[in-house]
Amino acid sequence: MKDQLIIFDTTLRDGEQSPGASMTKDEKVRIAKSLERMRVDIIEAGFPIASIGDFESVQAVAKAVKDSRVCGLARALDKDIDRAGEALKSANASRIHTFIATSPIHMQMKLRMQPDEVIENAVKAVKRARLYTDDVEFSPEDAGRSDLDFLCRVLEAVIDAGAKTLNIPDTVGYNLPQQFGELIKNLRERIPNSDKAIFSVHCHNDLGLAVANSLSAVMNGARQVECTINGLGERAGNASLEEVVMAVRTRQDMFDCDTRLDTTQILAASRLVSGVTGFVVQPNKAIVGANAFAHESGIHQDGVLKNRETYEIMRAEDVGWNTNRMVLGKHSGRNAFRSRLKELGIELESEEDLNSAFTRFKELADKKHEVFDEDIQALVSDTLTEDNERVRLISMRVCSETGEIPVASVTLAVDDKEVKTEMSGSGPVDAAFKAIESMVQSNTELQLYSVNNITSGTDSQGEVSVRLEKGGRIVSGQGTDTDIVIASAKAYIHALNKMLLPADRAHPQV
Ligand code: KIV
Ligand code: ZN
Repeated sequence: MKDQLIIFDTTLRDGEQSPGASMTKDEKVRIAKSLERMRVDIIEAGFPIASIGDFESVQAVAKAVKDSRVCGLARALDKDIDRAGEALKSANASRIHTFIATSPIHMQMKLRMQPDEVIENAVKAVKRARLYTDDVEFSPEDAGRSDLDFLCRVLEAVIDAGAKTLNIPDTVGYNLPQQFGELIKNLRERIPNSDKAIFSVHCHNDLGLAVANSLSAVMNGARQVECTINGLGERAGNASLEEVVMAVRTRQDMFDCDTRLDTTQILAASRLVSGVTGFVVQPNKAIVGANAFAHESGIHQDGVLKNRETYEIMRAEDVGWNTNRMVLGKHSGRNAFRSRLKELGIELESEEDLNSAFTRFKELADKKHEVFDEDIQALVSDTLTEDNERVRLISMRVCSETGEIPVASVTLAVDDKEVKTEMSGSGPVDAAFKAIESMVQSNTELQLYSVNNITSGTDSQGEVSVRLEKGGRIVSGQGTDTDIVIASAKAYIHALNKMLLPADRAHPQV
């Protein structure tokens, strides 16, 4: 029997810390459900003290998820731990993850604490967290640049205080694989009570080594990896879940452990996260990129046709690539639509949500003869309205003609009041955005605008991503439609709604 490698997903916490990747409560619940379907062991749902919104999101995930353990992050402060404990109250299984920095630079410059004070605070935090749950994880932040003897002292003390998981973060992505593996080995060998805790790793990708460092740690006894879907995360991101999981699964000859994940759910989760955040997956990204299993060159194609193992080390279907993508058409009924949603792992909460998704599906099937899985996934994301949407698109008309200035007439509901205006612009999208901005008056700056087609062909739905900035805060929005001007307006409004949410949000590491 091999050991279990525990997968701790932090897409909803560290992933969300990437500028522009902020998610609403409903989006977080949708992603959490998809991680649960994948059988992720632990879902870090957020940092409850950060804001009311973050608290409610962790609470909502804790309520919605039954099969994965739900975790909340807390600094080594009483108020953080109490807030996390409160947010996790209704979880089937909960964990509090508390942390304090241990590197000389962080202790001196950020915390302004003496090393002994850091140990004292760490122990106090773990003991307090144990009042809420018997599953407490402790992280010495910036462990990758901390003194080994000091790390051993902190970790020995927190195990005695009741920490069951010791997470070793390479917070700034500075370590190299061999060095990081040795760090884990040394900690396990030198800490007298190390056998009472599970060693975990949390690697950032600043040097592109997050996955390599995590795997090296696993080879040296780490039994939990913290990672994110698509490698989302602060700066260059975290270790990518799909790469860690598939490396361990594919190279079972090298690892004495394996995860219990259902890897066929990987692609759906990747698409969901990319759709929600607007962080597009590069085509050559391992496992989930569009080209990850495509064989362009004639020699490769010939080899794969004779025997797929000539050039393929994994099976595309094992990570959720589906060769039979065409699903429904305009004659498909409600039941067929409902069962396809089920097969795609999409759960709609109410009959009302199902009805509006089905109406959108019928409209789409009228415009587009073949409706693919990707269309359905996008359509569902686009149909679900958020509780706190202050701006809604009611209708839009755009005139665009050679030699004439494009004009957009847009009707919106802003705080449930109908408003209408007409504006011109350098193009139809510009005119539509100007009309919307003149009614919402958000004073935001457009940082990014991109359009992709969801499937191939000119009848494909366009998926638009918009990133807005205001006073250093960045949000992104997505919209889909066969008409890319309408998709653009939807994406812009989606981002505006996020920007209109309260912004008083603390960052755990600042
Ligand atoms: O990178 C880091 O050190 C973290 C900690 C909060 C675990 O995200
Ligand atoms: Zn991190």
